[in-house]
Amino acid sequence: MTSGMGAVCSTLLTLLNKGEHLLCSEGLFFHSDIFMRELIDKMGIEVSFADFRDIEDVTQKIKNNTSVIFIEIPANPTLGVVDIEAISKIAKSNDCIFIVDSTFAPPPVQFPLKWGADIVVHSLTKYINGHGDALGGAAIGSKKLIEKIKYPGMPCFTGAALSPFNAYLTMRGMQTLDMRVKKHCANALAIASYLETRPEVERVIYPALKSHPQHAICEKQMNSMGGGIVSFWLKDGINGMSIRQADYKLCDSLKLFTIATSLGEGHTLIQVENSSMLRIAVGLENEKDLINDLKQAFDNL
Ligand SMILES: Cc1ncc(COP(=O)(O)O)c(C=O)c1O
Repeated sequence: MTSGMGAVCSTLLTLLNKGEHLLCSEGLFFHSDIFMRELIDKMGIEVSFADFRDIEDVTQKIKNNTSVIFIEIPANPTLGVVDIEAISKIAKSNDCIFIVDSTFAPPPVQFPLKWGADIVVHSLTKYINGHGDALGGAAIGSKKLIEKIKYPGMPCFTGAALSPFNAYLTMRGMQTLDMRVKKHCANALAIASYLETRPEVERVIYPALKSHPQHAICEKQMNSMGGGIVSFWLKDGINGMSIRQADYKLCDSLKLFTIATSLGEGHTLIQVENSSMLRIAVGLENEKDLINDLKQAFDNL
């Protein structure tokens, strides 16, 4: 499909019928969240949200008309991790189609179908293409479900069909997926571990760190790799600065990191979130170069 959002929206719009209920995870990627909160109910579909790390909250929010469960793992940008196997059991016993957006944990990190998901959605724009030069999206699952999504499904009629050139670029990028993603993860773990040693840092979130609340699930389900994104907060009051002032100063001092959104490309990106959290989309550079760059930026605070 044309993009990750093309895949998310057209998969949901094809599989859901008027009068049915969609249960989603809280803290979805910004655009998915807007789609769920502001657009999908216009089609007569009921939507509610649950904290999928809390199984009781999920079971309480399932209704008689719940037909689809949609979650994102790890969540963008808060990096919460959910046990796919546990949720798949709930989905099966309630006869729901279970969809996982695994954009933040592409192969070889996480394989949601193996743990019982019915469909896995990816933004190909990110790790799977890997070069930041093409948009794309994919929905992967059983032939029966994918045939339904393909025709007379929404990708075709909403214009969400992937262009041949972007398909070519994505297939070229995929040849190095395994190697690239392992390097993204190794660099991210090195950066997350370094950030934990810095006195200026309030909190680091990275699923492969022992301090992550769902670290055990990361070990089981993500092949002990945390993905390529590291999120963290600076402390308030560093040299009299507010957290936000310090965020901007740190970003401006970095030389190798580019201030930009997106993820899964060769170079490292950093952005300040609304919550003053910093999100690093770790690239493929030499890990020592990245850490030295962070060090000089911290020293400059
Ligand atoms: C988890 C997740 N899903 C879907 C998307 C949408 O992907 P695209 O930018 O290809 O539309 C994004 C984009 O950042 C994302 O982070």
